[in-house]
This record gives sequence, structure tokens and C-alpha cells, in this order.
Amino acid sequence: MVQSLKNYNTFGINATCKALIDITSIEQLHEVVQSLVSMGEKWIVLGGGSNILLRDNLDCTVLRIALKGIEILEESESQVFLRVSAGEEWHSFVEWCVQHDYSGIENLALIPGSVGAAPMQNIGAYGQEVRTVITNVHYYSLEESDDDLSLNDRVKSISNDECQFGYRDSIFKNELKGKSIILSVDFVLNKVHTINAGYKDVQEELVKHSIAQPTIQDVFNAVIAIRKRKLPDPKEIGNSGSFFKNPVITIEQYNSLLSQYPTLPKYQIDEATVKVPAGWLIEQAGFKGLRRGSAGVHKNQALVLVNYGDATGDEIYSLALEIQNTVLNNFGIMLEMEVNILPQL
Ligand code: EPU
Repeated sequence: MVQSLKNYNTFGINATCKALIDITSIEQLHEVVQSLVSMGEKWIVLGGGSNILLRDNLDCTVLRIALKGIEILEESESQVFLRVSAGEEWHSFVEWCVQHDYSGIENLALIPGSVGAAPMQNIGAYGQEVRTVITNVHYYSLEESDDDLSLNDRVKSISNDECQFGYRDSIFKNELKGKSIILSVDFVLNKVHTINAGYKDVQEELVKHSIAQPTIQDVFNAVIAIRKRKLPDPKEIGNSGSFFKNPVITIEQYNSLLSQYPTLPKYQIDEATVKVPAGWLIEQAGFKGLRRGSAGVHKNQALVLVNYGDATGDEIYSLALEIQNTVLNNFGIMLEMEVNILPQL
């Protein structure tokens, strides 16, 4: 039965799919996938729906991963090893860790989406990336075409190294794209804390509250305050966080742009390359706060495209293409979309 996905994507796009199935156990996942494959049905997997743009209706079944649970695998004086199911809400997990005094992901507070989506795009914010705390990822493999493979044969585990993490990137966006469903993620967190408060915004927020020796709870609170101020809450204004990646360019290109745009910020990557903030480029191109019907560019952070109510996915997508073209014409930089566009182009 055709079903709306409006409540299952943080952009709040009212697109439909053929059917929506909540997956609450690995056994159920195995059964459902086998039966969809044997019927020749098309299907896709949805996590928290926080990193997608539904450009149009989906002519397929959608499986929503709702696997739950946090398990302590091992503990020492200084560390704790956890296994967390893919369907757990990311922010709730971060909050749980801060409450238990486990450090390592407090800077990643308030990122929308699920635990299963975290390794997929190696989520990162305010000086932390999730790859630094992931030890293993467990997934259901769709690679073998042999329908008779047992559940045990299909559940695979890969190590941090094998995940090939990069900036907003991993094996799950490349080699294993469409061939894997993340089931759970293993983390190692620290009981002996290393505070990561070097990011400019975090520093400023702590100074504002006269906190000189921040705890992980202080950093967690600071990140929440910054995000609430800068980024729209998807519950109020539909969005998928940063729509584009921050582009990496050569030092030569940066220097030549600098002569024309003396305030262009940069983060040094290595000797030959720098990353420049896409938000800055989009703002300079005149898009910040722009609104086209119900589609728009957020007024406080130009990297975030927003749905003010009843925008269609195509309206948002058209605006994204326009931004891409203008930034390319003005700066000679092609912005890469960070959000997954569905149906795939
Ligand atoms: N900037 C502007 N105008 C804007 C936005 C940004 O000029 O409208 C410039 C400013 O110079 C600012 C710089 O960009 O100093 C950096 O801005 P910000 O600290 O907000 O970070 P960002 O590079 O725009 C990245 C991540 C965010 C993450 C923040 C904080 C990507 C694609 N985005 O944004 O991640 O929260 O850093 O660490 O890397 C997400 O991925 O969904 C996301 C929100």
C-alpha cells in the first residue's frame, strides 16, 4: 500500500513509497530481504532519514531499520567497549554516553539520524569525527546472489581500517553501497577523558560561560547551544544538515582565489591542499537566507538547505543545482552534494 515518507525524512518531503516495513530484528530482516529478492521487488533501506533528499516518489519498498539496543562488551579502568544497534537514535546515544561519563562523542551532540548512519558518512562536527571511536561495523551482506545463504553467512564484520573512513566518506558509500545494511556499530569510549574544545565556536561558547576547565558535559552543552543557534531544528524547519561537502582545493587555486577574495577562510589539509567552507562560498554567491516558495537556504548557515513547509524534493533539488552552478561560475569550484538524492539519478 502506497505510504507517505513525510515523517521519515528530516527534510519533511511528502514523497511516497510502495510499502514501508519496520525492521526490528536481524532474523526479520533476513526473511524480508529474501522474500523481496525472490519476488523481484525493488527496495531500499532507510535509517534516520536525516541525510536524504526525496526528489520524487519512490517506486519501491522501503525498509526502516529499527534495531535497538546498547550492550557493554568489555570494560577496563580507562575504556569501555560498546555494541550499539543501528536503529538507536544518534543523539540519544551521545547523551547516554555523557550520562555514563564515557568520552569520545560529546562534540557530536544533536546530529540528527541513527547510529547505523554514523559510520556510513563518518559524521563529524566541532573537531571530532566518529571514525576515531569506531572499532568494528557489523552489516548484513547483499553481495552474494545465492538465495540460500544462511543468516549467519550474511552477517559480516569489518574493522575500523577496513571501513576506509575519509571526510564524510566510508566503504559504505563506495564499494559496499547498495550491498550492505549496517546492523550495529562497536565503539571504544574513554573513561579517562580527553577534552576536545579547540574548535573556535566551542571555545567561545565555553568562555561565554566562564568555563576554564570543561568537562564532557560542558562540551556537550556547548555544542548543543551552538547547533541550536546556528542550525535549524528539523522538527521545526525541514533540513538534512549540510547539503554539500566542504570542497578540497589545491594551494595554487586557493592562492589565486585569495587575490580576488582576501577573506576566503581555509583549513589546511596537507602541504598541497586546503579545505574551504562551502557555506562561505554559498553566502558570497548571494544565497544565504534566500527563499524560493517553500525551498530556501538557511539564514544562519548557508550550507543548509531548508523546507519551510510544503516544498517538493524537486524544488529543493533545483535550488541545489542553481547553487552548484553559481558557485562553479564564481569560484571555479564544483560543490559535491553530501546528501543522498533519492530516487538515485
Ligand atoms: N561560513 C560562512 N557563511 C555561512 C556558513 C559558514 O561564511 O553561512 C564560513 C565561516 O567562515 C565559518 C566557516 O564557514 O567560520 C565554518 O562554518 P561552521 O563552523 O558552521 O562549519 P561548516 O564548515 O560550515 C562543518 C560541517 C557541519 C558541522 C560544522 C561544525 C561539513 C559539510 N559540515 O560545517 O556538519 O556541524 O562543520 O564542525 O563538513 C553536517 O554534516 O550535516 C553538519 C552540519
